Amino acid sequence: MGFGKGYGKTILFGEHFVLYGFSAIASALGSSTTANVKIIEGKGWIVDDQRPETPGYKIKKFDEAQKSIKNVLEYLKIDTDSQKLEITFAGDLIAASGVGASAAQCTSLARALNDSFNLNLDDEKINEAAYEGEKAYHGTPSGIDNTASTYGGLIWFVKNLSGGKNTMDLLQSPIRIPLIIANSGITASTAEVVADVRRLKHENPNKFEKIFKEYKEIADKAKIAILEGNIISIGNLMNQNHKLLQAITVSGEINDKLVQIALKNGAIGAKMTGTGRGGLVIALAENKEMQEKIAKAIEKEGYDAWKTIIG
Ligand code: MEV
Repeated sequence: MGFGKGYGKTILFGEHFVLYGFSAIASALGSSTTANVKIIEGKGWIVDDQRPETPGYKIKKFDEAQKSIKNVLEYLKIDTDSQKLEITFAGDLIAASGVGASAAQCTSLARALNDSFNLNLDDEKINEAAYEGEKAYHGTPSGIDNTASTYGGLIWFVKNLSGGKNTMDLLQSPIRIPLIIANSGITASTAEVVADVRRLKHENPNKFEKIFKEYKEIADKAKIAILEGNIISIGNLMNQNHKLLQAITVSGEINDKLVQIALKNGAIGAKMTGTGRGGLVIALAENKEMQEKIAKAIEKEGYDAWKTIIG
């Protein structure tokens, strides 16, 4: 029997841009997915997916999940011809678009296999195995989700576009950052949205160049704001980042609606997070009272809102 855990994540700055080599900032969440692996007689593997979910998520992602498990098993060279694995996923992370559900699943599985088969893998290897799993969901993942899921904490991440080691620095903020995570309830396909942005970039190189330049400035300022604990600046920069996500067409109507509800109810900043075109929105609150107020306002409109503190 082996056990493993992978954290959920939220991207504060730079989803999509991270795929083009720009720096991004993400935080692991307190909620996680767990995996239990039991070796039984037979061959192959079976999955019991007990994760809580946004309705429809698991069905929509079923094929990708199967492929990601296969990728992780193959990467770790686990023999499934002379033994069978019973894999159970559970935990308190809600499987939804935008929360790093796929990365948490891949990371938890890599850790559970490491435990089951005494593979002695360090976090770097776990992260590599989870990245292989993520390919089934993202096509060409940046690696930010599995990195946050593996290492935890608040991270500054830059993908190495030449295929070498990515850059990951842990950021220490002097403040604790209260966030509200609003769930649109819509499950998006990361692979499809990422491919669509790539096509748009190809068709409009000048437009994208301008947007990328603006994003770079936002990311640099965001790192400083987080390190200095300047919550107002973090919020303003989130708003600016959201505008750029709208410009590259990944923020859907529902994302914009949730952003507006949060801002109207006192959020300092709000943006979509993750893949977009559904999925999640994050909003920044000045303090716990405001966090409560904003979460309630979102719930009143019929959407789930989760409160978390990062940093
Ligand atoms: C998805 O959580 C984040 C994206 O930037 C894809 C990736 O980085 O692999 C959209």
